[in-house]
Amino acid sequence: MKLQKSQRMNGFSPFFVMELLQRARELEKLGNNIIHMEIGESDMPTPAEVINAGLEFLKKGEVKYTPAAGLPELRSKIVDYYQQTYAVDLLPERIFITPGASGAFLLALGVVLNAGEEILMADPCYPCNSNFVKFFDGIVNLVNVNSSTNYQLTAQHIRKNWATNSKGVIVASPSNPTGTVISGNEFRKAILQVTELGGYFFSDEIYHGLVYNNKAHSALEFSDKAFVINSFSKYFAMTGWRIGWLVVPEFFIESVERLAQNLFISTATHSQYAAIAAFSEKNLLELEARKNEFQKRRDFLYDRLLELGFEISVKPEGAFYIYANCSRFTDNSFQFAKDLLEQAGVAVTPGKDFGKNEEKSHVRFAYTASIDKMSIAIERLERFLCR
Ligand SMILES: Cc1ncc(COP(=O)(O)O)c(C=O)c1O
Repeated sequence: MKLQKSQRMNGFSPFFVMELLQRARELEKLGNNIIHMEIGESDMPTPAEVINAGLEFLKKGEVKYTPAAGLPELRSKIVDYYQQTYAVDLLPERIFITPGASGAFLLALGVVLNAGEEILMADPCYPCNSNFVKFFDGIVNLVNVNSSTNYQLTAQHIRKNWATNSKGVIVASPSNPTGTVISGNEFRKAILQVTELGGYFFSDEIYHGLVYNNKAHSALEFSDKAFVINSFSKYFAMTGWRIGWLVVPEFFIESVERLAQNLFISTATHSQYAAIAAFSEKNLLELEARKNEFQKRRDFLYDRLLELGFEISVKPEGAFYIYANCSRFTDNSFQFAKDLLEQAGVAVTPGKDFGKNEEKSHVRFAYTASIDKMSIAIERLERFLCR
């Protein structure tokens, strides 16, 4: 029998940064010191209080499935969080606990998208979200965005690019890789536009909490028909616990529940107990202190990169990324990232990983390294650029 992969797999590109990561590991094995600025997760550990809550639960030994939608206590904490953070009242039934934002996307797209229907997304963007659309045999319509709209889709983009088979729009604010945020006014207009066109709005809010000067708006402030995808991965520093959540319009509660039962049965139980503790006052204070540290890092890195001659067309307001234009130094950002790793021991992510728009002229720096480490990275970059 000749083994064959599904045709679906042809549409899935690998992460190019993985090639760099593998090389970084080889170099580290050979005794080289590498500063990792390619990694999209906090370098700070999950707070002790959250770990202890997970451990305490595990020690009881009764590690069973939970309801598919998640523990009622956790869903109710999330209801409170929306009330306190966005002054939005939610029915707990609209909240589903998922294996990360990734699991939330699978559920949201799974209950909405039919084969051949199209989803609009900004380019550059986080690549897995477009792969989820392809996974459901949907079509991704990547719309080029730039600094003039903070690298975010606007109502105008949506109107101009909407086609007969368009089904909806994914917006991620703050964005990965640009860290840019959509303003409340633009957000409202974009959601209204999608509603007018009879489409669905998927709002990826995974970097909420990590917004530095202004406050990020949730799509739920403007519509109770939007799907909101969120996670404990980034602000809560819980990537490896694989836990996130999805807020769905009331109409979809039953179908999302059915899909969740079938796809996951439930999200890891100890992670759910840990996540309950993540909402304690003490932990939220700790997370705010961490956010302030990220803001200091952003300011440090932003200033230093500009001094070195990178162009950054919009100062990122959130997440932990700077999407920097390196066209002064190279016309191939992938080669630039490889050389930077090989010759200077600094790992960054090439623009190629985030789409086709401006990809050759950009690299993403993640400030998920301490200022001390980043200072060394900047010295190395300076020597590398002067070579
Ligand atoms: C914009 C965005 N959405 C979703 C995810 C998925 O995150 P997770 O599944 O860990 O919650 C990521 C991860 O980096 C991301 O950057």
